Amino acid sequence: MGGLSKKAFQLQTLSEQNEQQKLLIDSGNLLFKRDSITDGVSQERLTAKSIIKIYQKLGYDGVGVGPLDLSGGIKLLRDSTDNGFPWISANIMDDTGNPLFKQWISKKTQNTEIVITALTAAPRKMVPGIQINKWQTILPELLAQIRKVKKDPFIVLLSSLNHEENSQITKQYPEIHLLISTDQRKGNVSPQLLNGCLLTQTAKQGKYQGLLEITLGKDRRWGQNSAKQLAGLQNKLGSLNWQLRRLQKKTTVAENEEKYKKTITRLSSEKKKLDSQIDSLKKAIAKEKTGEIANDQYTYRFIGLKKSMGDDQPTIEELNKLNSKISELHQKERANNRKKRSDGSISSHAHMTGYRVCSACHPAQAEFWQATRHAAAYATLRQRKKHLNLECLPCHLTLDIQNATFKKQPRKQLLSFPEELQSVGCESCHGAGKNHSISPERYRLVQLPDENICLACHTSDHDDNFDYNAKLQQISCPAE
Ligand code: HEC
Ligand code: HEC
Ligand code: HEC
Ligand code: HEC
Repeated sequence: MGGLSKKAFQLQTLSEQNEQQKLLIDSGNLLFKRDSITDGVSQERLTAKSIIKIYQKLGYDGVGVGPLDLSGGIKLLRDSTDNGFPWISANIMDDTGNPLFKQWISKKTQNTEIVITALTAAPRKMVPGIQINKWQTILPELLAQIRKVKKDPFIVLLSSLNHEENSQITKQYPEIHLLISTDQRKGNVSPQLLNGCLLTQTAKQGKYQGLLEITLGKDRRWGQNSAKQLAGLQNKLGSLNWQLRRLQKKTTVAENEEKYKKTITRLSSEKKKLDSQIDSLKKAIAKEKTGEIANDQYTYRFIGLKKSMGDDQPTIEELNKLNSKISELHQKERANNRKKRSDGSISSHAHMTGYRVCSACHPAQAEFWQATRHAAAYATLRQRKKHLNLECLPCHLTLDIQNATFKKQPRKQLLSFPEELQSVGCESCHGAGKNHSISPERYRLVQLPDENICLACHTSDHDDNFDYNAKLQQISCPAE
């Protein structure tokens, strides 16, 4: 989510820098992270709506429906389609077997029609009101339909299917020219030819932006990029020339002549070969400039969205609005929670006791801890008005990380954590300590938290240079 304002900024910069026609597409799985989202207002639904708004503002041409976009039911998607959001899915049908979304869209470039279609993988949980048809039945009809109205189109498939299925598709339908996948198990996949089709994707959750620059040729076949190839060959020639000159200088010393002769002969013949390769490539390029390029060509780049990048202001504003809505919702939720159960008091946190109790017996460690950022982790969220945001709370509160069941507790409970647990407290690292506090000799706590404890929060998303040994020194409590 936070990355969206950077993504927007980056897209704007790119379109300012590039004159060429651009096509903004995504293979989907944008909206949710889980399979099934309950009805009613929730942080997840509010967030999904904001994502839709932001993508639409950015001017996406087409977005494939991914199975995770269906987690909140079909209404959200239908409503956004009615508002003009460019969802595409060739194989999601309503109860009567009619397609629910546009099955494909097209965009005209100077002399080529680009057709974008999408296939949706079956979601893990059934979604009421829809059927997901198999690609085996959909694709033949669809491609025939496209062929009827478009002459020699450049066909792009946005696919949330798995790699085996994608591979099958490229084998059976060579007219599909570019396949953008959204395989959750894979990260960035550099463009690679698979049965003549170019296949690529960026890592999930929008940490990267993929930029694929395509020069359309006359034949719908991927060729090499001659300009790039030429640069490579010229580089090689440069270093060959340099080696040759160096050796020739050395041979001016008499006794070296024999020694280097063989190498010089070998390098010279290599140079000859390179010269002629460069020559014919130059001719080909000259031809391309006057006439038409024979093959489609591409270059690509993945752009990591780093913290230091700029932010798009309108997107920031949209995200701030979202955060206010979330806070408002959760303020009510928290008040209700506290009324219903005596939640919000430490007694409802079975094995936890909070930093104050620990401090009574371990004043030196408590004093040290108070001065670390961990003690202020919740205050940090409060300052940014993010203390009612369920996305942030899990790492800025004291949770019993060593107890695997903590992950299963309803996340809304995080909203009403008592003050004693509003920080990365003692028990985040040493484990739940209620029993220990009553009977320290009988119930021992972990003395030295291992790296996995830290990594539960210091994930690469939130701390891109976590070094256990170095960081441990900064936060190790002093000895008794
Ligand atoms: C009533 C006093 C008391 C309270 C309250 C208390 N401790 Fe202790 N703690 C002790 C004593 C005594 C020891 C030494 C036990 C031993 O060496 O057998 C100890 C040892 C420890 C150790 C070292 C573990 C080891 O095995 O060497 C850690 C870590 C620790 N406590 C953390 C905590 C945390 C965290 C809390 C709060 C959840 C806490 N303590 C609450 C008295 C207390
Ligand atoms: C419950 C989540 C959580 C756990 C577990 C955790 N951290 Fe942190 N850590 C944070 C957060 C959040 C911050 C930033 C707090 C802020 O600035 O408001 C932070 C900050 C830090 C800092 C900066 C401290 C400073 O005072 O500048 C260091 C160093 C650090 N953590 C090391 C560790 C190490 C080492 C471990 C494991 C032994 C660990 N953390 C375990 C969440 C955690
Ligand atoms: C997976 C755990 C995790 C989650 C979720 C998380 N944080 Fe953090 N946060 C950390 C850790 C770890 C640090 C300390 C990083 C470091 O020491 O470099 C930190 C540091 C921070 C800081 C202080 C450092 C900075 O970058 O300015 C802020 C502010 C912050 N988090 C805000 C948030 C907000 C807002 C959210 C929710 C959108 C959030 N965090 C969600 C783990 C998390
Ligand atoms: C971010 C993780 C972290 C937090 C939070 C934390 N500690 Fe520690 N604590 C450590 C580490 C690391 C050590 C050093 C262990 C070692 O070197 O064996 C340590 C050591 C200790 C020891 C044993 C000292 C000794 O060697 O005899 C006690 C007692 C202790 N901490 C208590 C506390 C209390 C009380 C709090 C909260 C007020 C707290 N710790 C918060 C990480 C943490």
